[in-house]
Amino acid sequence: MAREPRRRRQQISAQIVAQHHTLDQMVAVLGHAISSRLKPDARNAFGRFRSALSAHFALEQQFFLPLMHGAVDRERREVERLVVAHERLTEELAQMSEQLELLAPEDFSRRLKGFATALATHVNREEALLSSVLDAGAT
Ligand SMILES: [Fe+2]
Ligand SMILES: [Fe+2]
Repeated sequence: MAREPRRRRQQISAQIVAQHHTLDQMVAVLGHAISSRLKPDARNAFGRFRSALSAHFALEQQFFLPLMHGAVDRERREVERLVVAHERLTEELAQMSEQLELLAPEDFSRRLKGFATALATHVNREEALLSSVLDAGAT
């Protein structure tokens, strides 16, 4: 990726940021379906969100992992932390999938809020890394 043209890096970075916004909206739709107590809608919204997040993580890992070659130590450690976070968030979502119909909507909503907060923290770190990578490849 270090040798990949800057324009290509910018395109993928823009795609990642756009997906962050879409994922945010999907969490809002899911939250609404849960608080409306519409179980089929909640299950559908959950499935769409989970698939989108999984595809998003796959895209990011394709983008980030090549950065490991030639990256400075600080960036390399940050990429490692982001990949570990993908695993943790994916695992948490798998647990939530099992709880969706079991928990009371208020309890599931609380769980979803915790997940959304963890995801937002992850997204902020990622966008900071994307900026630093794009700045470094400015020439
Ligand atoms: Fe990520
Ligand atoms: Fe992301």
